[in-house]
Amino acid sequence: MSRKNILAPSILAADFRHLEDEIQAAVSAGAEYLHIDVMDGMFVPSISFGMPVISSIRNATDCFFDVHLMIEDPDRYIEDFAACGADGITVHAEAAKHLHRTIQSIKSRGLKAGVALNPATPLCALDYVLEDIDMVLIMTVNPGFGGQAYIPAMTEKIRSLRERADRLGLDLDIEVDGGIKLSTIRQVLRAGANVCVAGSAVFNEDTGESVRTLLKIMQEEA
Ligand code: DX5
Ligand code: ZN
Repeated sequence: MSRKNILAPSILAADFRHLEDEIQAAVSAGAEYLHIDVMDGMFVPSISFGMPVISSIRNATDCFFDVHLMIEDPDRYIEDFAACGADGITVHAEAAKHLHRTIQSIKSRGLKAGVALNPATPLCALDYVLEDIDMVLIMTVNPGFGGQAYIPAMTEKIRSLRERADRLGLDLDIEVDGGIKLSTIRQVLRAGANVCVAGSAVFNEDTGESVRTLLKIMQEEA
């Protein structure tokens, strides 16, 4: 099955003083998703931003808003994130008390539903929900901060998940998040990932050029 490779720049690494310009630079260079990392200081140590920021940048672009909720009990906030402009919402299996219900809540609003797994969480956490979701996010670092190093053991985890999805005949997006850059992107694509989050590898002195370089590799590997 050939599926589309998509780059999802994470705005966590952007310069918030110039957020709209940063977004325009990434989108006009060809990025189709914007990855939006919401952190609550409970599920992960850090706090990032929430609904007001997302509503505000919704006016800046039509691109797909890929909202990654690193928050406890995300069920409480699905309605709010849908209302502020999310196109897809990903929740952590470790943080959702009633994961199945949360997935249904996301889908009932017409949004793409994703489930994220921390590096130490086994793939069997997806048992009984895999056929209901559009995307699995394999965390390739421990969530909470940008700029961390890729955890090599995750390559095998991506491969096992892609094999399982293929065996079940599922058209599943596999997203990877953390430490994705020029030196790691090929191995995750070859293992079966097709949505690549990149923060620090995209938002830098030349955001447009960084996007084009990563997209070129993603096209070569498709
Ligand atoms: C980590 C976040 C990531 C992070 C990726 O908790 O979910 O999206 O911003 O950043 P880089 O690409 O710098 O590792
Ligand atoms: Zn993320």
